[in-house]
Amino acid sequence: MLYGAGCTGRYTRYHYPITFSASANCVRYCGGDVYFADIDPETALLDINAVRALLEQHPKGYFSGIIPVDFAGYPVDLAAFRELADAYGLWLLEDACHAPGGAFIDSKKIEHRCGDGSLAELAIFSFHPVKHIAAGEGGMITTNDEALYKHLLRLRTHGITSKSNEFTETYAGEPERGGWYMQLQELGYNYRLTDMQAALGTSQLQRVDAMLSRRQEIAKRYDDAFAGTAIQIMVPPGNVRHAYHLYVIQVDDRKGLYDFLRTKNIMAQVHYIPVHLMPYYRQFGWKPGDFPSAERYYARCLSLPMFPTLTDKEQEYVIESVKEFVGV
Ligand SMILES: Cc1ncc(COP(=O)(O)O)c(C=O)c1O
Repeated sequence: MLYGAGCTGRYTRYHYPITFSASANCVRYCGGDVYFADIDPETALLDINAVRALLEQHPKGYFSGIIPVDFAGYPVDLAAFRELADAYGLWLLEDACHAPGGAFIDSKKIEHRCGDGSLAELAIFSFHPVKHIAAGEGGMITTNDEALYKHLLRLRTHGITSKSNEFTETYAGEPERGGWYMQLQELGYNYRLTDMQAALGTSQLQRVDAMLSRRQEIAKRYDDAFAGTAIQIMVPPGNVRHAYHLYVIQVDDRKGLYDFLRTKNIMAQVHYIPVHLMPYYRQFGWKPGDFPSAERYYARCLSLPMFPTLTDKEQEYVIESVKEFVGV
């Protein structure tokens, strides 16, 4: 995903359109303009060549950052994006909401786990009920940058700090400060996770490795069942550890298959309607045809049931039903 724009350049970002709209909306909250770039049809991830082409079409300083998404749990090649971002003085924000436990090994044989902060300044995770770690709602930001970390702590709590080493100077006539003292230093928010949600999330964390293994096991069974058929699947290369938030297939009659599976009580889903085609973003001039690979992907994609408690028997039923409809 790529955000960018025509205003000050300070708030322009690149984003790619196959994601949940939240990945783009965050830029709008900050007064920025969103530019999208197409996906790589091989991975359904942000196409770095499309991003590079867009960067080359604008003066340096026009864009401020790139937000690649580890879509479906497939880790994006952040090492390549880091290089590109550095060449243009951009920051990187990794949307790792789908990818806790995902990782890739770069060309120097170094492993990068999604959200480990080795390549992007910030990474975001979601604790929405369907995610790997479900805490009701809420999420998490990870960073290795101490200044950003402290800034985020303040923003989470209305912009207030009670740490004395962060206080600014006193003013003439200020009464002596005591233990109660705190400072509102900037306009922040109430973005705190409740204690109850944190407790739920922490308990899930203890089972997260087992749940990831189960997701990978389920994916392998789907891969084996659909390999060599008209059902298009995406098998990642050996240097990629996919976290399988979603298992997506591509078929020509996607609507037919979706409806057929519903009649069998199988709740397949579509991820995602391209963000640039949402009415909110179309008002900025984005239109059908802007990103052919993303739009073709949307026309054919279907996410099959993928969650750790899916039983082998249930998965077998899903596989047989998909094959029955496609005729393979
Ligand atoms: C890729 C992606 N980014 C961001 C979000 C936003 O997460 P939340 O709903 O927790 O704000 C989601 C949620 O589904 C998502 O799938």
